[in-house]
Amino acid sequence: MANAADPLVNGSISVRTAVPGPRSQELAKSAAKSVAAAVLPYGTVFVTRGRGALVEDVDGNVLADFTAGLGCLTVGHSHPHVVAAIKAQAARFLHTDYSVSSYESYADLADRLAWLCGGERKVALFNSGAEAVENSVKIARYVTGKPKMVCFEGAFHGRTHMALSLTAREAPLKTGFGPFSPDIVRLPYPGYNQATMQDFEAAATEAFAADEIAAAIVEPMLGEGGFVVPPRGFLERLKRICRSHNSLLIADEIQTGYGRTGKFLASSHSTAVPDIVLLGKSIAGGLPLSAVIGHADLMDRLPEGSLGGTYIGNPLAIAAALAVLDVIEEERLTRRSADIGHRLKTFWRRQVKAGLVDNVRGMGSMVGAQFHSPEDLKSFRARALEGGVIAVGAGTEGKVLRHLIPAVITDEHLDDCLGVFDSAIRS
Ligand SMILES: Cc1ncc(COP(=O)(O)O)c(C=O)c1O
Repeated sequence: MANAADPLVNGSISVRTAVPGPRSQELAKSAAKSVAAAVLPYGTVFVTRGRGALVEDVDGNVLADFTAGLGCLTVGHSHPHVVAAIKAQAARFLHTDYSVSSYESYADLADRLAWLCGGERKVALFNSGAEAVENSVKIARYVTGKPKMVCFEGAFHGRTHMALSLTAREAPLKTGFGPFSPDIVRLPYPGYNQATMQDFEAAATEAFAADEIAAAIVEPMLGEGGFVVPPRGFLERLKRICRSHNSLLIADEIQTGYGRTGKFLASSHSTAVPDIVLLGKSIAGGLPLSAVIGHADLMDRLPEGSLGGTYIGNPLAIAAALAVLDVIEEERLTRRSADIGHRLKTFWRRQVKAGLVDNVRGMGSMVGAQFHSPEDLKSFRARALEGGVIAVGAGTEGKVLRHLIPAVITDEHLDDCLGVFDSAIRS
């Protein structure tokens, strides 16, 4: 039952003790004894509860979560509608394996996702973003009969083997984990590392020449690579090249999707229609789920039983995903993401003018602010945390502050957080 005295409900960002607090530090120490170093958290905030854009940590601090579980919480922490849907489903059944005993909600979600992605599409559900990537490669190879994949500089597509082959960043993601798939051609992403459209076109012409490319996989805006927005016309050009070589275009919208950029899909800001769309992260309000949504005539060419997995389309995650779509619609969160983005950009443009950061860029609320150096960003993030805002970086050089804010954040909280940022950047 909601309690009006609950700081997460009446919610001011009130840092009541030092951050990270003593209990968080204790837990961090004890975690280091039993948790593999490779998966230890970057920060030292141990969360006990979350609601909307706020979390409470084990020391009683109320913090604004500008990371939203790395982009999974467009509808915020524990949205009551999502929680109710999960509880109701948990009371009915938890799991069957869809390929053995099916349930109606799988097709309901498939129907809604297909409609949201436009055209006549069919859907296969998986557990994680990386798994959606893996399966999109299988589909593209099967349908085209070609072996190779085009991917991009700065790209992140996940950490399973094929997804990691497509991911660009070496340390610490790939170093020592090879050999990777040899059937990868990496092209410049215009806007990333000073690459131009001409650089991309020249490399693409060469890459596609032998007609061996099954598909190009692309983020409509780079996520982990530093929130880089490509020039207008890039996706359209890529789509034309793919079409002329009978290759598919796969839009990895795992981070950019679900309204974050001001449209349900970031690729809808262009006129290029991807053959396959990948969704994940915000799809189920924090439960593991992902989707491959392809044109029906492509998807149906694969033989029955050729795609699958024990937990794919888990009923709890699907119940959450249906509730997430209701909330996005009812609370008009796609439009809200555009408003949030506008306010973020106005704030950061002032800082650019004052010479405090290099630049600001992004689409909708997916805004990145590039600091002068990784050290500047690191100390900014530490000061922001002291003020009550959890924020993360991106980009291979670690200079970009990225905003992955729950779209349910109130104007008051957003103002408070920008106030924290203002002090943090000036101190
Ligand atoms: C664009 C993109 N693709 C794929 C992934 C991998 O998703 P997951 O971590 O759920 O496997 C991510 C995760 O950050 C991502 O941002």
